[in-house]
Amino acid sequence: MPQAFVSHHPAILHKLTRLRSKETETVAFRRLVKELAMLLAVEATQDLETRTKTVQTPLATCQGMEISQRVALVPILRAGLGMVDGLESLLPWAEVWHLGFYRDEEKLQPVSYYNKLPEGEPADCCLLLDPMLATGGSAIAAVDAIKKWGAKDIKFLGILGAPEGVKALNMAHPDVDIHLCGLDDHLDERGYIYPGLGDAGDRQFNT
Ligand code: PRP
Ligand code: URA
Repeated sequence: MPQAFVSHHPAILHKLTRLRSKETETVAFRRLVKELAMLLAVEATQDLETRTKTVQTPLATCQGMEISQRVALVPILRAGLGMVDGLESLLPWAEVWHLGFYRDEEKLQPVSYYNKLPEGEPADCCLLLDPMLATGGSAIAAVDAIKKWGAKDIKFLGILGAPEGVKALNMAHPDVDIHLCGLDDHLDERGYIYPGLGDAGDRQFNT
């Protein structure tokens, strides 16, 4: 049985339905991707580590908390770019590192074209961002690259997944948690998530 955390939050379900609609045009589509990414990130990052921090309020000294982990956002170009804004609303100090993959539409295999992950000390927590988890090939290749950097705590955040992609990512990287706004029925004969939302890159970038 494929393992993924699939949100049941009413606001996510509502926005996801708007996103799927073919009536939703680029401007609204982009806004929805950003909002869904932010809401999903709240659910996916509940276990970030914190430490106590003392601050002075106008009235008294108060013991609060601050996030103690170095967090990296790793969007997969192109479509993952639209999720970065949403994540930055939640974690404005996070590092951002880009990975570029496109999917060969005949073989459905990921083709790498950009990787500028740095050398040296990896972030404590890497949030891999891509709205679509279809065959899982792009996500698996991206996790391979992030692990090569040395990162250990990696989570995949996506808007829609197919059972085939969840299963493939679970098998290749069982230590990577998968967080989705929705899990669809299957992949169609072209490798598209069905019923899905179509091509996430084209709909965001009006191409
Ligand atoms: C889409 C999507 C994922 C990939 C998912 O990217 O954003 O990266 O396909 O498919 P997979 O799970 O079968 O690998 P696409 O290749 O369309 O590139 P784009 O984001 O540049 O449009
Ligand atoms: N990429 C997309 O943009 N949509 C799909 O349904 C599958 C891969």
